[in-house]
Amino acid sequence: MKAVALKENIWWVGGIDWDIRNFHGYQTPRGTTYNAYLVIDEKIALIDTVKNYLEKELLSRISAVIDPSKIDYIVVNHVEMDHSGSLPQIMAAAPNAVIVTSAVGEKGLEAHYHSKWKYVTVKSGDSLDLGRTELKFVQTPMVHWPDNMVTYLPKEKILFSNDAFGQHIASPERFDDELGSDIVIEEAAKYYANIVLPFGSQVQKALQALSALDIDMIAPSHGLIWREHISDILKKYTLWSANETDDKAVIIYDTMYGSTEKIAYALFRSFEEKGIPPRLINLKSNHISDIVPEVLTAKYVCIGSPTLNNNMMPTVAAFLTYLKGLAPKNRIGMAFGSYGWSGQSVGQVEDILREMGFDILPQIKLNYVPTQAQLDEINLDQIKIFVSDFD
Ligand code: FEO
Repeated sequence: MKAVALKENIWWVGGIDWDIRNFHGYQTPRGTTYNAYLVIDEKIALIDTVKNYLEKELLSRISAVIDPSKIDYIVVNHVEMDHSGSLPQIMAAAPNAVIVTSAVGEKGLEAHYHSKWKYVTVKSGDSLDLGRTELKFVQTPMVHWPDNMVTYLPKEKILFSNDAFGQHIASPERFDDELGSDIVIEEAAKYYANIVLPFGSQVQKALQALSALDIDMIAPSHGLIWREHISDILKKYTLWSANETDDKAVIIYDTMYGSTEKIAYALFRSFEEKGIPPRLINLKSNHISDIVPEVLTAKYVCIGSPTLNNNMMPTVAAFLTYLKGLAPKNRIGMAFGSYGWSGQSVGQVEDILREMGFDILPQIKLNYVPTQAQLDEINLDQIKIFVSDFD
């Protein structure tokens, strides 16, 4: 298999995962890549590896450029197994290689692979000379794990950013301008919402540390390499990490006999009347990982569930569990739903929205099948709390 040149003596040698459709719960309809990069100078460095089942592809692409046994250093920017999974095979093919990683990275690799490898540990500000080429390291803890760091080539102005700025896209194209920026930005947003969102403050620290660097290529560990839309993706990361939202609403719900859905549509109408663009999302037909990119940029998050066996519906509970873990901030939340007699679901949803630190609009809770008059009363300027007793 072929390697792809980024610049002179710098090659993409990663693996393309055409068939993956579920990445630990995140649906990846476009597949993904695990990007590894080869830097060739008097010394040779491999930056990151690939998932274990793509190790032959990685070795094949490396072999298209050099003999893998000549690799001197393997930089592990991140321990997670989508990037380190083929390390045992690569270390077998490059027996003289020394692993360059953070101190936390070394501990993580030992805990994963239980192997006696040679390490050089680095921290922010450290560098490694390959001859004419210098690798500089910046630690970026929690973007995405505590071990994360990025590698920067000052002369070549390339940032190897690992998970940051990644997208789950499998494609023959390697650069953002070859595929179309709409797709790449859309997938970068989905990646941020599903993977990076909990770590906004750490992303801001990383952006601050990277702001001093002169960058004309960002080479992440997933998806396309940024060379055309660098300022666009940096601006997006700045907004997303600050939890800045658009004046838009997402109305996310499940429904049993259509009553909660009627409330959802009444809310939709009410947001439209206020000039706030709403989006309706039924949990029966949308995967949770496709919904969180909508939450990423929405100021208003309304969640609806009828009561089922004294609880919210399992689909709603699953979504809220996922959302709570991703910890979006600075949102305005609302719980709504229909009920028959006990009616716990709306309060349960609201409790979780409160735990997430959302500002809360009054809940809407209607008994059995709402009347048109009740639905017509739903009005964002004057939200009323509807509780009609079963008896
Ligand atoms: Fe792509 Fe955190 O691994």
